[in-house]
Amino acid sequence: MKSNTRVARINENEELKTMEITKEQVLQALSQIIDPDLHQDIVSLGFIKEVVICEGQVKTTIELTTPACPVKDLMKNQAIELISAIPGVQSVNVEMTAQVRGRERSPEEMLPGVKHIIAIASGKGGVGKSTVSVNLAVALAQKGAKVGLLDADIYGPSIPKMMGCQGEKPLVEAQKLIPIRRYGLSIMSLGFLLEEDHAALWRGPIVAGTVKQLFGDTRWGELDYLIVDLPPGTGDAPMTTAQIVPLTGVIIVMTPQEVAASIAGKSAILFRRLNAPILGVIENMSEFVCPCCGTVTQIFPGPGARVFAEKLRTPFLGSVPLDPAVSRSSDEGVPALIAAPDSTQARAFQEIAGQMAAQISIASMAGK
Ligand SMILES: Nc1ncnc2c1ncn2[C@@H]1O[C@H](COP(=O)(O)OP(=O)(O)OP(=O)(O)O)[C@@H](O)[C@H]1O
Ligand SMILES: [Mg+2]
Repeated sequence: MKSNTRVARINENEELKTMEITKEQVLQALSQIIDPDLHQDIVSLGFIKEVVICEGQVKTTIELTTPACPVKDLMKNQAIELISAIPGVQSVNVEMTAQVRGRERSPEEMLPGVKHIIAIASGKGGVGKSTVSVNLAVALAQKGAKVGLLDADIYGPSIPKMMGCQGEKPLVEAQKLIPIRRYGLSIMSLGFLLEEDHAALWRGPIVAGTVKQLFGDTRWGELDYLIVDLPPGTGDAPMTTAQIVPLTGVIIVMTPQEVAASIAGKSAILFRRLNAPILGVIENMSEFVCPCCGTVTQIFPGPGARVFAEKLRTPFLGSVPLDPAVSRSSDEGVPALIAAPDSTQARAFQEIAGQMAAQISIASMAGK
């Protein structure tokens, strides 16, 4: 009886070995994976770049629209599971790659080598735009994206200090400024060009011209994402930016105060009027987690940014807790993500960067 079973098993194995696996079977299996953001299966989305079948071994490459995809690991595991279930498959190798897809651009548009320009805005000053810009840019670069960071706050450029490159002077080649490189990013700021403590007090057309120059006269090269840190509010510089550069979209940063919410609402309306889509809302300084006892204290009373995002019918991308370490690391010129990569705030920035990248993919696929 026992030996009969063994013979049967051996036959079964022989059968599996000779069973031919087809590319169609693999694609059929992979088509069960739905991209949660793009709401389409990954085969129709054109994500499958390669299927190699050699006897019982299957190798496939899945190319995502961003290296910061928040569901990358989940998709990989799903793919392995689904391919393994095909009769005859003995081993599976799934490679995950990414190619950020840009919007359709006409060659005469500004910065043709930059796939996505994302502005970080707020209605109120001091809510953490620059802190968020720096850390999101670093998070995307750490995931393997090519990232630039433009400090468009010409009234009070703070990026050089936050990135620890204050006092550096960009080289000029063929009348173009060469960005300063730090923490894997290409950075440009008026702060590199002004003498220290020389406050810019410019108005109207000069502001527009300066912002345009910082964009256009810098040799950014090929970038997946250019993160633009805007000055607060609805003045000349933020609005000019929305008009002169082809923005993929705007991210609104706010604290959970109701007052901040109504001001943020005004800036969101203005950006939308200028045809700059709002890609999402980030809440900063949400709550304070006591490092000694872990007690969570709500700093600002109010409905919070989540409710604001719902009202605006835009995604809520996440929140960053108030943490003295964030402020300290900015002052020391080392972004929180680099200074304390395993901290709660670093994880918050990584998660938000993933959500933001997903929204950018959605916006660019919708625009095609
Ligand atoms: N999550 C946080 N926890 C603690 N401190 C923070 C946090 N986010 C920002 N800060 C601190 O708050 C201050 C304001 O932040 P930041 O300069 O990023 O704001 P901003 O919106 O860019 O300001 P402005 O409108 O002047 O450009 C800084 O001292 C910064 O270090
Ligand atoms: Mg700022």
